[in-house]
Amino acid sequence: MALAIHFHDQLQQPPAASLREETLAGFAATPKWASPKFFYDRRGSELFEQICQQPEYYITRTEERILADAANDILDIAGPHSDLIELGSGASRKVRLLLEALHPSSYLGIDISEDFLLSSTQRLAADYPWLEVHAACTDFSQQLCLPDDFASHHPLVFFPGSSIGNFTPLEARRFLHRLHDVLPLGGGLLIGVDLVKERSRLEAAYNDEAHVTAAFNLNLLQRIRDELDSDIDPSRFVHRAYFNEAESRIEMHLISPAAQDVTIEGQRFHFEAGESLHTENSYKYTLESFKQLASSAGFDSRGQWTDAQALFSVHYLQRR
Ligand code: AVJ
Repeated sequence: MALAIHFHDQLQQPPAASLREETLAGFAATPKWASPKFFYDRRGSELFEQICQQPEYYITRTEERILADAANDILDIAGPHSDLIELGSGASRKVRLLLEALHPSSYLGIDISEDFLLSSTQRLAADYPWLEVHAACTDFSQQLCLPDDFASHHPLVFFPGSSIGNFTPLEARRFLHRLHDVLPLGGGLLIGVDLVKERSRLEAAYNDEAHVTAAFNLNLLQRIRDELDSDIDPSRFVHRAYFNEAESRIEMHLISPAAQDVTIEGQRFHFEAGESLHTENSYKYTLESFKQLASSAGFDSRGQWTDAQALFSVHYLQRR
């Protein structure tokens, strides 16, 4: 099979280097933390795909339904021949939905996980022969720029899944601002945003009965053990996730039930019994709070869609 992908690797910075630095910084901090972007090695990306299929995890299926229902509206707003740019491109069916509805001129997938990015863009190239497919491996939370040779006349950035929720509201505003600065006037941003709802529903989504989310969370420690010089033992930690209502966010933690010392790259870190490593925040917005955030970063709302139960929202924002 001929795979016509334009792979752009001039964009930087090996992610492996920052795994080491950020892990050492996070374990040395009080309270301890680790960055959720490092969940997504090959195993983590596979586990995330499984999370998306859990009955409690309403996010993926709800967003897909919203996108399918809104596809014609989205085409009306975006117009034909857009250049679709997906941030955090996974194995997702969502982008296929958009490709079929919008028939863009080109597609650029941007992801931190190189082998996952390559296999998913290769599949897109094979399935949509009419589409010009580009792939760029980069940590877009650190650096946002489009490849020089990716001529984007009519960009539409697609940022699905409520991944924006991993940023604090302040970081989210800065991120949107940077996106605003790389987009031409009138450039679009189609973004999925999870909504505030009752605690039980939110907490169930991050504590699925099949324990896939727990495995996903714990895989971060396995990755530290595999990729760094470390004796950390994932079986000596347990998954915990709960809704912090004051901050409007789900927090994921890895708790050390017993006191222990772990070594990473020659440095020793102590955990007290019950001590937490904070691994993820997933912020939840209201329609209003999100539109305000987007507006403060220079985007106008051109459309917004939710499901009948108002679990999730999709927004079409336009660079002001
Ligand atoms: C990809 C950040 C949107 O917060 O729901 C899923 C990641 N973590 N289950 C989310 C995640 C645990 C997901 N985001």
